[in-house]
Amino acid sequence: MKYAASLRVLLLPTFVSLALLGLRLQQGAEEPFTALPEVAGAGVPLRRPAWAWQEASRSNGTAEPAARRHPLQPPYPYPYRFLLNEPHKCRDRTPFLVLLVVTEPWDTAGRHAVRQTWGNESGVPGASVLRLFLTGVHPVFGQPLQQVLQEESALHHDLLQQDFLDTYNNLTLKTLMGLEWVSKHCPNASYVVKADQDVFLNLGYLVRRLLQPQLPPKRDFMTGYVYRNTGPLRNKAYKWYVPPEVYPNETYPPYCGGPAYVLSGDLARKVYAVAQTLPLINMEDSFVGICLHALGVRVTDGPWGLFNMYKVAYDKCKFSRLVMVHHYSPKELLELWPHFQGPGPACPP
Ligand SMILES: *[C@@H]1O[C@H](CO)[C@@H](O)[C@H](O)[C@H]1NC(C)=O
Ligand SMILES: *[C@@H]1O[C@H](CO)[C@@H](O)[C@H](O)[C@H]1NC(C)=O
Ligand SMILES: *[C@@H]1O[C@H](CO)[C@@H](O)[C@H](O)[C@H]1NC(C)=O
Ligand SMILES: *[C@@H]1O[C@H](CO)[C@@H](O)[C@H](O)[C@H]1NC(C)=O
Ligand SMILES: *[C@@H]1O[C@H](CO)[C@@H](O)[C@H](O)[C@H]1NC(C)=O
Repeated sequence: MKYAASLRVLLLPTFVSLALLGLRLQQGAEEPFTALPEVAGAGVPLRRPAWAWQEASRSNGTAEPAARRHPLQPPYPYPYRFLLNEPHKCRDRTPFLVLLVVTEPWDTAGRHAVRQTWGNESGVPGASVLRLFLTGVHPVFGQPLQQVLQEESALHHDLLQQDFLDTYNNLTLKTLMGLEWVSKHCPNASYVVKADQDVFLNLGYLVRRLLQPQLPPKRDFMTGYVYRNTGPLRNKAYKWYVPPEVYPNETYPPYCGGPAYVLSGDLARKVYAVAQTLPLINMEDSFVGICLHALGVRVTDGPWGLFNMYKVAYDKCKFSRLVMVHHYSPKELLELWPHFQGPGPACPP
């Protein structure tokens, strides 16, 4: 007994730290990757079972049969139907930038905050912005939420929804739905931004500093916060678990972190096209990197500090010179926006 008790005492800190780690992960604390350990000495090969990935590649445009597909691998390609669509938005205009915002069906308040703040389509002088939210079907409350979504869609005309289950491991399907929409209904847009809802985004600075509407649109261009030399997390306890059956390589090609990234319109269409020929993985941002790798296109590192994957405290001057800060709640966005947009110089002279 005594032994058991002291063992408990010894183990207690471990449990506590594990619990805290779990909490951190629950809150989406950070970073869906494992940094690879430094390889000591040149020439030590990393384990890369190339055969598996090659074998898994499809070329005939059919999804893996369910029996052979790992449950975490989103079924694709698959004829998902649009339950909510806006096919005519680009009939009478060609937007400079299509803003695709990832949302969950129930999160009306989050969408409201985005519309009122950084998602305002008239918020960038001199650049035409088109905003659309991306959603699937709630796994439990799909039916009752549909009515609400239809009303919201009739009011704002900014919802895209396909009939896949809206789950964390299906996020890749949302991104591909957005890129499908751009490819089919707005192929001449100059740029596409994919953003999560829990970010602060400064589209004005993105447009002025990086995209520059006065210049011809860039080709084969993608930027954001670039991850290099990372690989899939193989521990089932993580939200970001990627089993070898879904992605066998131990490294990901360079990719832009999911909270917000930018693609040129031509590249958005190419990514959608090449995605029809690759096995999907459940990490949407890494998957876009895999698509770029297949296309032979390199990501462009943004100037340092423009895309912030960790929370940065609000400061008008600082925020006027960056593009994205992760981890801003709807409430925080609504609170800071009037000040951010308000009169007065952003930075002291
Ligand atoms: C996976 O590894 C193989 C073998 O090294 C390589 O040929 C292939 O390009 C890799 N795929 C990706 C997506 O990095
Ligand atoms: C397409 O590829 C899958 C997976 O390799 C295979 O099972 C299926 O038979 C192929 N279908 C056709 C029509 O070739
Ligand atoms: C969007 O921005 C325009 C121009 O700054 C402003 O007039 C309008 O009130 C804003 N709309 C919302 C919903 O905040
Ligand atoms: C992803 O969506 C498909 C289609 O709705 C569904 O069959 C599958 O179970 C979902 N996957 C996960 C991991 O939720
Ligand atoms: C896109 O541009 C091409 C070439 O200028 C044009 O033929 C086509 O109608 C445009 N499509 C849309 C949807 O604006």
